[in-house]
Amino acid sequence: MRIQIAAANWKMNLTLQQGEQLLNEVLSKSKQLKDYEQIIFAVPAPYLQAAVNLVKGKKNVFIAAQNIYQKKSGAYTGEISVEMLQSLGVTHTIIGHSERREYFHETNETLAKKIDIALEHNITPIFCCGEPLGIREAGTQNAFVAKQLVESIFHLSKNEISKIVIAYEPIWAIGTGKTATSEQAQEIQKYLRSQIVKHYDEKTADIVPILYGGSVKAANAKELFGQPDIDGGLVGGASLITDEFVSIIDALK
Ligand code: PGA
Repeated sequence: MRIQIAAANWKMNLTLQQGEQLLNEVLSKSKQLKDYEQIIFAVPAPYLQAAVNLVKGKKNVFIAAQNIYQKKSGAYTGEISVEMLQSLGVTHTIIGHSERREYFHETNETLAKKIDIALEHNITPIFCCGEPLGIREAGTQNAFVAKQLVESIFHLSKNEISKIVIAYEPIWAIGTGKTATSEQAQEIQKYLRSQIVKHYDEKTADIVPILYGGSVKAANAKELFGQPDIDGGLVGGASLITDEFVSIIDALK
């Protein structure tokens, strides 16, 4: 079984105290994870250390940053390096979330550099891709998302790409309450996996978890995660509510 992941993306929400309470509640209410199941909390940068401490010793529970900078160190005021994450015990980072692409003008090319530096430091990237509404309406979403993969991750070696997580997040479904249907998500995620087969091979494509993100909630998680090419979710809004996120974890296949 491929790794199945319930990943929370808190974005710029919660105080430290609220975050700690949420994390503790989710962990105390959630089921015993199987070997191939993981929970990841992508928390705001100031809370990374506290979050790492709270999950210490918990099997298959990891803390992620929401972004990193593509340089090792230096005069980049306000940015966060992978070495800093490593020194805290952070194991994962989101890279290329559509909000980063839109509000902070991150390009596929910049994201390729972020992917490289993360892998060089053994930080697992959760690479986000996905199309805006206009592209979906024009029916060209497959080509649009494939280009994101080509320009940001398909330069990696077979061994490197086997270490990353992909999150397909159609922009029109993020925070809108409008979820892609399980058929729509399965169709494009199957296509993305076929692109990995094309650039690498079947065995490699079979390893890489592809998450779905965009208005995942307790009510639709089971249906989405039940699809063969959906290996869990990257969850924004619903990850801020204990019972919602616990149900989403329960929905992992
Ligand atoms: P959402 O966000 O679940 O609130 O739609 C998902 C994401 O942006 O990762």
